[in-house]
Amino acid sequence: MAFYKTSKAKPKPRSPIHLFAIAITAIAILFLFSSIISTKGSSSSFSKALDNVVKPRNGKQHRTGHEKYLYWGDRIDCPGKHCESCEGLGHQESSLRCALEEAFYLQRTFVMPSRMCINPIHNKKGILHQSSNASSEERWTASSCAMDSLYDTDLISDTIPVILDNSKEWYKVLSTVMKLGARGVAHLERVSRVDLKQKSQYSNLLLINRTASPLSWFMECKDRNNRSSVMLPYSFLPSVAAKRLRDCCNKDSYPQIKALLGDYDAIHVRRGDKIKTRKDRFGVQRSLHPHLDRDTRPEFILSRIEKWVPPGRMLFIASNERTPGFFSPLSTRYKMAYSSNFSQILDAVVENNYQLFMIERVILMGAKTSIKTFKENDADLSLTDDPKKNTKAWQIPVYTADEKREWHFALVHRQWQLSNRKNVGNR
Ligand SMILES: *[C@@H]1O[C@H](CO)[C@@H](O)[C@H](O)[C@H]1NC(C)=O
Ligand SMILES: *[C@@H]1O[C@H](CO)[C@@H](O)[C@H](O)[C@H]1NC(C)=O
Ligand SMILES: *[C@@H]1O[C@H](CO)[C@@H](O)[C@H](O)[C@H]1NC(C)=O
Ligand SMILES: *[C@@H]1O[C@H](CO)[C@@H](O)[C@H](O)[C@H]1NC(C)=O
Repeated sequence: MAFYKTSKAKPKPRSPIHLFAIAITAIAILFLFSSIISTKGSSSSFSKALDNVVKPRNGKQHRTGHEKYLYWGDRIDCPGKHCESCEGLGHQESSLRCALEEAFYLQRTFVMPSRMCINPIHNKKGILHQSSNASSEERWTASSCAMDSLYDTDLISDTIPVILDNSKEWYKVLSTVMKLGARGVAHLERVSRVDLKQKSQYSNLLLINRTASPLSWFMECKDRNNRSSVMLPYSFLPSVAAKRLRDCCNKDSYPQIKALLGDYDAIHVRRGDKIKTRKDRFGVQRSLHPHLDRDTRPEFILSRIEKWVPPGRMLFIASNERTPGFFSPLSTRYKMAYSSNFSQILDAVVENNYQLFMIERVILMGAKTSIKTFKENDADLSLTDDPKKNTKAWQIPVYTADEKREWHFALVHRQWQLSNRKNVGNR
């Protein structure tokens, strides 16, 4: 079979961010490897697969004629004809990671959707122009964007070979599949990853066309692993952002945002939907992250990061907080910078908020000290100690530094509410 990917003649010069991406990838693979080994027991065939995939390529990979493909559909998490209900970038990335992970496990080239659905609320550059006249903004009518405007598929392919479903290779695969008929393809649903790999009726096929969960792709990974969901680490996709987005912040190839920031630290402050509260049946506000609203306020950030970020440092803030000037109190100690400071540069590059998120992530990754909202790995610095994982336990938000007192107030309030109810009932 003849699906050779043209081999790259000479290694491209690698920029620091590129090397960083490779390092992240290596860590990602080690992590993926160890978690698959630890959950699935020893699997020498998988470790062999890993050898093949992770062999240093230095841009000189020669694909042999054994290329086999895995296709999950042409839309991430957009089961129906309409994409209006698609999720934000984070959810879709979880799904994409789930699919990539399976391709990696099956040693197949993953056929990536060539477009990603954009949630309508992110389909404009709202973040860049917080207080400006909305009507002057360009109109962003498309409900999707090109996948390769977000990710560098060559960079992804260094780890997990991918092609896009509008590429020449894909059309070649489809025409070969047509000729081969049932010997070339199986259209499957609900077949386990292990069966796809081990059973010869699947493993020899040129193309596995697998219908992913109509809820969202990442459910496919949840089914298989009750402990954690997707094993390919979160950090993988941020590290393979499209070149255009990486260049926007890259000091060497394009002296732009990073050069303007100089030597800087950064914080990712997640507020927005994460601080959402709801009332319980007693009318008491509850939150899934009871300390998050407090811990992401400037006063608390100032005291939390004191030990990590010396006064006078340039501090870049990436946040979904929309209140103008919300983080200004931090400027008593730091030189502050936001994406909005670079709107002129970003305007030329950014077409939607997904791209902006990705650029912000590149900036966060390039900081000397980078602080996350939630701790994701042991080595992470974080603003809050609340776990990121949705625990499903709705708790009363805490706003003071003294938790015991707050608990006491909450308790008193609840007792008061209860007795109030009783009184009403008795009347
Ligand atoms: C935008 O600005 C123009 C003129 O500056 C004004 O007439 C218009 O009402 C503004 N629109 C909005 C939505 O604020
Ligand atoms: C994959 O399978 C689905 C349904 O099983 C089908 O609608 C679709 O056309 C198939 N795609 C390819 C590329 O064969
Ligand atoms: C989760 O997986 C472990 C081991 O694979 C198994 O013993 C356990 O019963 C599973 N739990 C659930 C809730 O499926
Ligand atoms: C960014 O803009 C804010 C005002 O929005 C300003 O206080 C700050 O100094 C600017 N930072 C840089 C690095 O220009």
